[in-house]
Amino acid sequence: MTLVIKNGEIITSDSRYKADIYVEDETITQIGKNLPVPPGAEVIDATGKYVFPGFIDPHVHIYLPFMGTFAKDNHETASRAALLGGTTTYIEMCCPNRNEDTLAGYQLWKSQAEGNSACDYTFHMAVSKFDEKTEAQLREIVADGMSSFKIFLSYKNFFGVDDDEMYQTMRLAKELGVIVTAHCENAELVGRLQEKLIGEGKTGPEWHEPSRPESVEAEGTSRFATFLENTGATGYVVHLSCAPALEAAVAAKSRGVSIYVESVIPHFILDKTYAERPGVEGAKHVMSPPLRDKSNHEALWHGLAQGLIDTVGTDHCPFDVSQKAMGKDAFTAIPNGIPAIEDRVNLLYTYGVSRGRLDIHRFVDAASTKSAKLFGLFPRKGCIAVGSDADLVIYDPAYRGKISAATHSVNNDYSGFEGVEIDGKPSCVTVRGKIAVLDGKFVGDKTRGQLLRRQPSHF
Ligand code: URP
Ligand code: ZN
Ligand code: ZN
Repeated sequence: MTLVIKNGEIITSDSRYKADIYVEDETITQIGKNLPVPPGAEVIDATGKYVFPGFIDPHVHIYLPFMGTFAKDNHETASRAALLGGTTTYIEMCCPNRNEDTLAGYQLWKSQAEGNSACDYTFHMAVSKFDEKTEAQLREIVADGMSSFKIFLSYKNFFGVDDDEMYQTMRLAKELGVIVTAHCENAELVGRLQEKLIGEGKTGPEWHEPSRPESVEAEGTSRFATFLENTGATGYVVHLSCAPALEAAVAAKSRGVSIYVESVIPHFILDKTYAERPGVEGAKHVMSPPLRDKSNHEALWHGLAQGLIDTVGTDHCPFDVSQKAMGKDAFTAIPNGIPAIEDRVNLLYTYGVSRGRLDIHRFVDAASTKSAKLFGLFPRKGCIAVGSDADLVIYDPAYRGKISAATHSVNNDYSGFEGVEIDGKPSCVTVRGKIAVLDGKFVGDKTRGQLLRRQPSHF
C-alpha cells in the first residue's frame, strides 16, 4: 500500500522545506519535490499545512492504581485521544507499588496495553523498591527492551524509594546503560507539611501547593542530581514545575552531571490559582508537583526555548469529578493528576510557536525528537527521513478553536484546560503508514499500536 503526502511543508527539529513524502507500508521510502503518484496510491493533499514527525509523549499514566482508585483511561481511549492531538507514540509509566512484585507488574502493564492501543507505546519501568530479587527482575525487563527506569522520591511507602534504593537503582542503570527518570520531591517534607496543614484545619485543594512548595521540589532535584554525579548514571527529571528546581538542574548540567529535564504542559499554561478554586473545581487541578505561581511560567518558557528544558510531556493522568471529590474533606485524598494527552501539542504549538515564545524546530525537538533520542527510539521515531516509521502529523496552523470537555475525546468528564484557545490542530495523522486521523476525526485501527522495545544506550 502506497500513501503519498503532497505539497506539505516538512518541519523537523533541524530542517524546513516543501516536498512530497512517499510511504510504502509502514515506512517512509522517498522524500522529494513533485513525486509522481503511482496508480492506486492514496493521496493526502497537505497544501498550506505543516508536516511534522509524529509527536512523542514521554510521560503518561494510563493503567494506574493510585490513591485508592484507578486513573480513568484505558489504552483504547488514551491512544485515540493521543492521536487526535498529534501524539503517535507514548511512554507509559509502568508503576507497580513497593508491595507488589516488579516483574508481575511489568507483565500486568504489558497485558493491559497489548492489542488495545491505536498507536505505538513503550514503558518506563518503575523501581519502587530495590532488593536482590527486584534487581534480577529489572535485568530481565531491560533485556526485554525497556531501557528506562522510573523512581519516585515522593509517595513514601507506595511508589517512593529511599536514598539507598535510589543509589542502587542508579548503580544498576549505569551498568546496564539505562536512563533513570525521577519524580523529584522530598517525601519527608511533603509528609510533614501535609500533617501540619491538615492539623491546622487547612483541608481545601488550595493547600496542596503549600504542602509541596518549590523548595521541596528543588531539594529533590538537587539530591537526584547529586546521586547521578556520584554514580555516573544518566538521569531525567520528570514534570519539573518551577524556577528553583530548574536552577538546581541547570547547576548540575553545568558541572557536567548527565541530567535531562522534562516539564509538562499543565505547568506552562495553568497556575496555582486554578487549584485555589473552591471545592472540586480546585481539585480538578491538583497534580504533583503542584501548579505553581504564575511567575514560574517565564522561567519554564525561557528554559524550554534555550534547551535547558529538554522535553515537554503531559503527565496525563485523568481522574473524573467523582474521583476528585474523594478529597472533599482533605486535599491529601484528592487523586493527583490532570488529563492532557490530547492537548499537549496544540497548547505547546499555540502558546510556544504561534505566540512567539518558541522556535518551531525547538518545538518539534521538545515534543518529539529529543524524547526519541533520549529513550532509544531515534531514528525510527522523532524524524522524517527515508527508513523511518511513517508516523506523520499534517498540521493545520490556520485552525482556531477552544478546548472543551464537550468536544474532547479524552475519557474524562472535565478538561483542565476548559475554554483555552488553540491556534492549530492536526488534520491528518498516520501511524506506521496508516491513516488514524482524517479531517480531525479518528478513523484509525484501535489495535494497530505496537510495543516498542528499546536498546540500552550506554550513556
Ligand atoms: O499528579 C500527578 N503527577 N499524578 C501522576 C503521578 C505522578 O506523580 O506522576
Ligand atoms: Zn510524578
Ligand atoms: Zn507522572
